[in-house]
Amino acid sequence: MSRIAYVNKAYVPHGQAAVHIEDRGYQFADGVYEVVTVFKGALIDEEPHLDRLDRSLNELEMAWPVARSALKVILRQVVRQNHLINGVVYFQVTRGVASRQFEYPKDIKSSLVVTAKHMRELVHGPDKNGISVVTLPDLRWQRCDIKTTGLLASCMTKQRAKESGFNDAWMIDRDGFITEGTSNNAWIVTHDDELITRDISNALLNGITRRRILKIAESQGLNIIERAFTPQEAKKAREAFISSASSFVKPVTKIDDCVLGNGQIGSLSEALSNGFLDFLENS
Ligand code: PDD
Repeated sequence: MSRIAYVNKAYVPHGQAAVHIEDRGYQFADGVYEVVTVFKGALIDEEPHLDRLDRSLNELEMAWPVARSALKVILRQVVRQNHLINGVVYFQVTRGVASRQFEYPKDIKSSLVVTAKHMRELVHGPDKNGISVVTLPDLRWQRCDIKTTGLLASCMTKQRAKESGFNDAWMIDRDGFITEGTSNNAWIVTHDDELITRDISNALLNGITRRRILKIAESQGLNIIERAFTPQEAKKAREAFISSASSFVKPVTKIDDCVLGNGQIGSLSEALSNGFLDFLENS
């Protein structure tokens, strides 16, 4: 089955989807994006994702490429045309095409690209196998709250993690605290049953999955603390996990050389993972 992408008003075969070489997304990473889970055909947490897109666009003084209601129609079309049941839709807005200049060009039209990807593993819900993370310096800029396509520092960091034999990295800021994973938020559970994730600031992305997990944790009566934590504290934690639209609640069972718990998903992480699956099933 051929994949279909949406590019500026047209639904085209994925292999032929293209934008102009002077699109500012290509030259400056002058763009923002969202990744939304599709579970059993439903777009999960669509409204908060669109709210975050709106925030990212506002922060960069970039116009919506189409009205919000039109974008919702396009997302559904891409899901339908790709026969997507379980996977993700990716959508990206770039400032548009202009001859190269640093300041924002006036009167150009922003570009919209939407693609879909099947993820068969989602059929079974969250994957409860643990991953390993290595702690590495956070090389990114000072506006990590904006979901921009400028992801090179994250790519470099993930590459280093992979080459060192780890699944991902947890990035450390200049004060020695963990900001987040290369494409996910970081969580720990202490031996006192506290659920800890970093509080929101310009140092990290306010994950939609993060917010959803906080709600689920609240409904489960957990003791939630939003604050920064160090790698040393994380290595002493009873449990750890990451969250994102494509990983849900994914256990972390190794941080640098330290194995957490017995190397399996912890009980509190499992309860949150199950809570998240219930949420997906009811969306
Ligand atoms: N990444 N932090 C960073 C740096 C991210 O790139 C992401 C998402 C998250 C989690 O956000 P959310 O729960 O809204 O997915 C946190 C997406 C999935 C990606 O780039 O593929």
